[in-house]
Amino acid sequence: MASFDPSQRDGFSSRFGVIAAAVGSAVGLGNIWRFPYVAGENGGGAFLIIYIGFILLIGIPVMMSEFAIGRRAQRNTFGAFKVLAPRSRWSLVGLMGIIAAFTILAFYSTVAGWTVEYLVNAVGDQFAGKTKEELGVDFSAFSSHAYRPLIWQLVFMVLTAAIVIAGVKNGIEKYTKILMPLLVVLILVVCVRSVTLPNASAGLEYLFNPVWSDITLNSVLMALGQAAFSLSIGMGCLITYGSYIRKNNNLFSTSFMVASADTIIAVLAGVMIFPAVFSFGFEPDKGPELVFIVLPNIFQTMPGGYIFAIIFFFLISVAALTSTISVLEVVVAAFIEEFKISRTKATLIAASSITVLGVFATLSFGQMGDFEILGKSVFGLLEFISANILLTFGALLIILFAGWRLGKANFFDEVTNGGTIKQPLFKVIFFIIRYVAPIAIGFVAVASFFIDDLL
Ligand code: PHE
Repeated sequence: MASFDPSQRDGFSSRFGVIAAAVGSAVGLGNIWRFPYVAGENGGGAFLIIYIGFILLIGIPVMMSEFAIGRRAQRNTFGAFKVLAPRSRWSLVGLMGIIAAFTILAFYSTVAGWTVEYLVNAVGDQFAGKTKEELGVDFSAFSSHAYRPLIWQLVFMVLTAAIVIAGVKNGIEKYTKILMPLLVVLILVVCVRSVTLPNASAGLEYLFNPVWSDITLNSVLMALGQAAFSLSIGMGCLITYGSYIRKNNNLFSTSFMVASADTIIAVLAGVMIFPAVFSFGFEPDKGPELVFIVLPNIFQTMPGGYIFAIIFFFLISVAALTSTISVLEVVVAAFIEEFKISRTKATLIAASSITVLGVFATLSFGQMGDFEILGKSVFGLLEFISANILLTFGALLIILFAGWRLGKANFFDEVTNGGTIKQPLFKVIFFIIRYVAPIAIGFVAVASFFIDDLL
């Protein structure tokens, strides 16, 4: 029986593999689907600036902390806190991450399923000649359909599980290494088309020209939640991946590279979407369906659009897949090591229980459309709880752990690979980890929960 043996731990085989897997996790629907619509609902250019501020100030330090915690402990996210802080309550942070994996994957697999449906539609040339109204009607008809979105969600979960079962090196690393470079090229192509549409400059202006009066405290919270979501931080995903990184990898430079790639791709997604939004006369605050109506519209107006639509929806599905595997891996790694069960068994248990929750998220666009909790659909609630509560507080607790519990000496030892490499920025970054980032997260979280009500 292939039960857990620490000396036989799976891991990434190369530096490029680490980057590909971590960028694969970070770049996903969060960049291409969520970032444009959240930015569109929260003030465009001004939102972007706040977002980038959070990536630098909070995102990168939390990412480094997660990698350092994971690699030091050589354990899954729950086990990592048990190893590094025995007999303390810190392992609850790991538990919170596992809960976040459930809530994220549940709603994420709904949207991932949609991307596969749109891939199939692109192959069948279903967008051709349609007005934006017709494309809107098509999207609602599909997303509220009794079983089609559920089938695609299931297909997606099965694919995710298959790669996770194959393992870290032979599954996750192998696929992300091929798929991520391809994605970047295609995004660039669609960007070029979008910015050459008539009236594209209105969209660029919306994205890059900050209008500060559109910013509310809530949009600041949304920017923080989106930054955490997009970087895959705050739930131990990168603790888990960190535990697979070899001891000679430079965790600081890896974090910078992953965060930069993720941010550039989010901005490019904005460049891809907003010019088209304005060119076709949409409102930027259309919500979750934005990408599924605007992009088909671009494709049917561009030369070779048929082919680009297929490639694009293939790649967005792939971007989603390289993220879903990282979320599932959080739960699987924990099940393997904590319950001492095989990878296959752990994956099957985790994936099937998450799918059950995911069905409710999908149905909330149709059959369960009237069912609301706290004024939100099941989908909306899972999305809100994930990004704005679990990831935000998770990021806070993780960075407090790295700064105050792991201790400066241990942290220094980990990020200098036992003193073998120099980290000239260590002092500055550790100061941010100890003071600046936790205060900033704490302030935003507390302020947006309480002060918005008072105003
Ligand atoms: N970062 C992924 C995206 O942007 C989503 C994700 C969140 C993945 C948390 C893992 C952990 O699509």
